[in-house]
Amino acid sequence: MAEDLLGQVLAQIGGDNPRLREVITSLTTHLHGFVAEVKPTEEEWLAGLNFLVETGRWCTPRRNEFILLSDMLGLTTAVDDVNHVGPEGMTPSSVEGPFHSPAPPRELGAWISHGPERQRATSAVVHGRVLDTDGTPIPGAVLDLWQANDTGLYDSQDDSQDDGNLRALLTTGADGAYWFRSIVPSSYPVPTDGTGGKLLTAIGRHPMRPAHLHVRITADGYRPLTTHVFLAGDPYLDSDAAFAVKDELVVEPVRRETEADLRRWQMDTPFEELEFDFHLAPADWKDGAAQ
Ligand SMILES: [Fe+2]
Repeated sequence: MAEDLLGQVLAQIGGDNPRLREVITSLTTHLHGFVAEVKPTEEEWLAGLNFLVETGRWCTPRRNEFILLSDMLGLTTAVDDVNHVGPEGMTPSSVEGPFHSPAPPRELGAWISHGPERQRATSAVVHGRVLDTDGTPIPGAVLDLWQANDTGLYDSQDDSQDDGNLRALLTTGADGAYWFRSIVPSSYPVPTDGTGGKLLTAIGRHPMRPAHLHVRITADGYRPLTTHVFLAGDPYLDSDAAFAVKDELVVEPVRRETEADLRRWQMDTPFEELEFDFHLAPADWKDGAAQ
C-alpha cells in the first residue's frame, strides 16, 4: 500500500535539525502524492532523473540552469512572495534574476549607457524618489541598477559592452530623489540552449521576458528591496517567462521632445521619460496580520 510505503519513509526521517525534518517530510509527501497522481512509467521516471542530470551539466560558475528552471516554473516568484510580505504601500519585490554583478558608483544624472547601443537605441531618462510607506523621502538610499541593452543583452553576455555598462550605484539626495540617463531596455529571451529551453519548447511556451530595469535598494533602517520596473505596452507583460511581473511595477513611458523637456533633463535628442517611486518597509516591520 502506498500509504504504508510513505509512512515507512517518513518514519525514517530523523536528525537533530527540526527545520530539515519538516522540509524533507513535506517534500517526500508531495513527491509520493505526485507519483500517485501521475503514475509515471519507469521510462518517464528515468527520463525525469536524466533531465536533472543534464541540467546539472549546463551549470557553470556563471550560469545556474536550476535557477532558470525555477524561474520558468514560477518557483522563484513563489519563494519571493512568501519571504517578502510587507506593510501596505510597500513596493513589491521581484526576482533578482541571474545577471546582477558589481556596478560602478555614479553621480545622480549620469549616463549609464556607454556602449554602441547609445547610438542605436531610444534614450531614456529614469527618475523618481525612494520613500517610506508613508511617503517620507529616504536620503542616502543606495540604488544598485542593472539593465539589458536594446538587443536584450547584459554586459556579461555581450563583447560590445564594457563591464559596468548599463549598471550604476546611485545614492539619493536629501529629497530622496534619484535620476539617470540611459537607453530604453528591450525584451529578451532567457537562455534556450539548455534544458530550460528544451522544456519550454516541449510545453509550447515562448522564452521571452518583457523589457525591464532591475534594482536593488538598501537604506539604513529599511528592509532591502530587490525588484524590477517594467515598461507598459510590452507584448510580453502578460506572459513573462519568469513570472516576475506585478501590476505595481509597471511604468508608462512618456515620450518627451520639446525644447523645455530636453533642457530640463540635459538631453540632446527626444527620449522616453520613466518616472517611478520606490517605497521601502521599515527594517523592524513585523507581519502582525498574518497570525
Ligand atoms: Fe533582466
